[in-house]
Amino acid sequence: MAQDDHSGTELAAADSSLAAQEFAGSTGTAVIPHDAFENPGFEPHRPRVTDEDAGREKRAQRTVYTLFYLSILGSVWAIAAYMLFPIESNDVGAVRLNNMFIGLGVTLALLGIGFGAVHWGKTLMTSAESIDVRHPIGGSEATQQGAVEVFRQADEESGFSRRTVIRNSLIGALLVFPLPAVVLFRGLAPQDQIPVELLSHTMWAKGTRLALDPSGVPIRAADVTIGSAFHVIPEGLVDLEHGRLEEKAKAAVLLMRLDPSELNEAPDRESWSYDGIVAYSKICTHVGCPVALYEQHTHHLLCPCHQSQFDVANHCEVIFGPAKRPLPQLPIAVDDEGYLIAQSDFTEPVGPSFWERH
Ligand code: FES
Repeated sequence: MAQDDHSGTELAAADSSLAAQEFAGSTGTAVIPHDAFENPGFEPHRPRVTDEDAGREKRAQRTVYTLFYLSILGSVWAIAAYMLFPIESNDVGAVRLNNMFIGLGVTLALLGIGFGAVHWGKTLMTSAESIDVRHPIGGSEATQQGAVEVFRQADEESGFSRRTVIRNSLIGALLVFPLPAVVLFRGLAPQDQIPVELLSHTMWAKGTRLALDPSGVPIRAADVTIGSAFHVIPEGLVDLEHGRLEEKAKAAVLLMRLDPSELNEAPDRESWSYDGIVAYSKICTHVGCPVALYEQHTHHLLCPCHQSQFDVANHCEVIFGPAKRPLPQLPIAVDDEGYLIAQSDFTEPVGPSFWERH
């Protein structure tokens, strides 16, 4: 066993018999910190006023459930504030009011739960100190029964089952607290449109020309040489007055041309490419980063966020990383003037999977 004088630690070598006994499950070394002070042990237990005075105990109980009810009020107020103080475009004052009152509601909701739980623990739950001795993982039958007994005892001492008003108010506060988040997330989409529909469709439609990003200049098939890759947007996107970024976030496409003999196309998608030119959504199916790196020799697309890789030669299937499904393919063709056009919108939602993905 080697001694480290500077750090105050001992390095237990693997060949030490004592270390071998103590750390039978691990190889190499283990760091054993010195105890700098003698363990003073627990001070004698001192009962609190709530342990001895029934009136004060009742008062503490009232305080706790009042705090939980205040939390409920805060959550409800956050929802109400969202509706009472809507965000008007070009009105900074409205944005401030909206943020301030929603923030106040969420703050009250969080503080109510936090202070209530702390006050409950400090004044009403048992304050007797206890020691939980460490034991190996995967306890025996007796240990597991002991754990159940500990839960039962904790329940009894905290009064979780007995003090039904407190318990129910806490459960109510925890259930109501997430509601503002649901309402706020719904508000991210226009109120007169269905969010799932918005996520399921893009600006691409039959006959829309593929255009260069960011100039918006349409692309001729003859200009796409083998090995090249283009960042593509739908023609007309740059002329949109409203929602240009939102549309681009869904419709961005990568266009690549491979030697047709290297393309392994599914039988039902052979008509979706044009002479080795293929178009795939640029939005990663993991969490939506732009898949912007193309390795020409391997035909692999790499998403720089979490390193998902897609094989362009094989329907953009996932060959590495956390993405769970291939990049959606945009069916393309060529119009009478030689420009690349979409045959339709994507046939599946682009971007990360969501609950209504078909
Ligand atoms: S967003 Fe692409 S790998 Fe995570």
